Amino acid sequence: MPLTLSLRRTALDALDVPLLVIALPPESNAVGELRALDGKIGGALGRSLERRDFRGARDETLHLSGGADGIQRVLLVGMGKGTDRASAVRRAAAVGARNARRMGVGQLAFFADPLSDVEIESAAVGLSLGAWEYTDLKTPPPQDERRAPLQSAIILVADEAAAAKSFQDGQAIAAGHALARRLGMMPGNLCTPDFLAETGRDLGKRHGLTVTILGREELEREAMGAFLCVAQGTPQDPKLVAIEYRNGPAGAKPIVLVGKGLCFDSGGISIKPAQGMEHMKFDMCGAAGVLGAMEAIALMKLPVNVVGLIGATTNMPSGTAVKPGDVVRSQLGTYIEIINTDAEGRLVLADLLSYARRYEPAAVIDAATLTGACVVALGHNASGVFGPDETLVAEVLAAGKRAGEPGWPFPVWDDYRELIKSDVADIKNSGGRPAGSISAAMFLKEFTGTYPWVHLDIAGTAYTENDLVTLPKGPTGVPVGLFVEFVRGRAT
Ligand code: BES
Ligand code: MN
Ligand code: ZN
Repeated sequence: MPLTLSLRRTALDALDVPLLVIALPPESNAVGELRALDGKIGGALGRSLERRDFRGARDETLHLSGGADGIQRVLLVGMGKGTDRASAVRRAAAVGARNARRMGVGQLAFFADPLSDVEIESAAVGLSLGAWEYTDLKTPPPQDERRAPLQSAIILVADEAAAAKSFQDGQAIAAGHALARRLGMMPGNLCTPDFLAETGRDLGKRHGLTVTILGREELEREAMGAFLCVAQGTPQDPKLVAIEYRNGPAGAKPIVLVGKGLCFDSGGISIKPAQGMEHMKFDMCGAAGVLGAMEAIALMKLPVNVVGLIGATTNMPSGTAVKPGDVVRSQLGTYIEIINTDAEGRLVLADLLSYARRYEPAAVIDAATLTGACVVALGHNASGVFGPDETLVAEVLAAGKRAGEPGWPFPVWDDYRELIKSDVADIKNSGGRPAGSISAAMFLKEFTGTYPWVHLDIAGTAYTENDLVTLPKGPTGVPVGLFVEFVRGRAT
């Protein structure tokens, strides 16, 4: 059940809610509005702060009991020392909503003093982030064991009218994240290439966007030998989906967002080990990020032209599957030697990146769960950012930072091209272990053309295999926030 968010201007001591979440910076005192509130709950807040039971460190929480009515519970959430208050608010809101869900309260109010416009957006995003769950495939527990789902959250603000725009933007971004996470969490037998294409078609219908879908036959006509060789081992129809959002000046070149959509990556003939292979249902998180971003951008009505482009298929071993040693011809005409059928994402992206040329893009950003090497290099806290255009790389890094989805740059010097030289063809699809994520980016670069381009390796950031403070195991919503921030940066 999606969380309903609203704005309200109310004095804290006049509230009537099952839970009030208060985000507090380190070493706070019960002054101002908090003082009046404290009177209502018998002084517990002031005493806890005075005794330093709660110090306001990042993710620190303290649960206080309130009255039988009025404010029934209070949860203090620490914002930590960081200087970026918007991300501290986003995080505290997520922690608050997640705790509320565990407590089984149906409603919460969120308070942080004061909330700027950006922070109101962050609060909306954070609350939705923390409340998110995917329960479609779980049989609900018996009625008497059920906890109330968190249904609504109120953000307390000084001026509802002034906050409305930021609030709407926050909800739009949250809707984009939710779509991407839902697609990511869905198992491979449900989130198929067909399903991703239908999701694209539905987006188009709801927002009046032009959607083009190519299946195997059309891809053959496009001579997309790189994309097609990945889909060669599966009976499922591969899909290229292009979604055009045109809300900028008529002649303005679009931003093209490209996503890897491997609904399952078994590795193909170069099959992966069984351990953890189930996580390869997340190999479509780049595509999910594109769809989520298109949803958010359309809801925000950003005055800009954007094309979302995804390549959806599964990578399976079979008698018809592509084999190591095979040579395929990409749409561009480049001959590619297949060294490892598990380096399939770059093959799909190769044809998408050359297909993107027809839009005469102002910029292209692709997102892909592309290499395990990127996870080794950066872990789960930053996406790899690759591109020859330093200005564009800087713009993408800044967007990621604003969105709370940070990236970190890698070099794509020509010297690295050595790694993907082939003995028999123009290039090979694997450069081996050294600089594994860079050689993947070098491979992509061959197909980009003249437009400014950045590649995001989201293998470590698109999903989490461990429960985090703000997120349960599963998809994180990355790179929706970065995409939206980038596009918004171009729109204003
Ligand atoms: N989808 C994987 C990359 C991946 C690994 C994503 C771990 C998330 C977590 C990709 O298709 C892949 O298999 N890459 C290979 C490339 C290698 C064969 C050159 C890899 O990283 O091992
Ligand atoms: Mn693979
Ligand atoms: Zn893959």
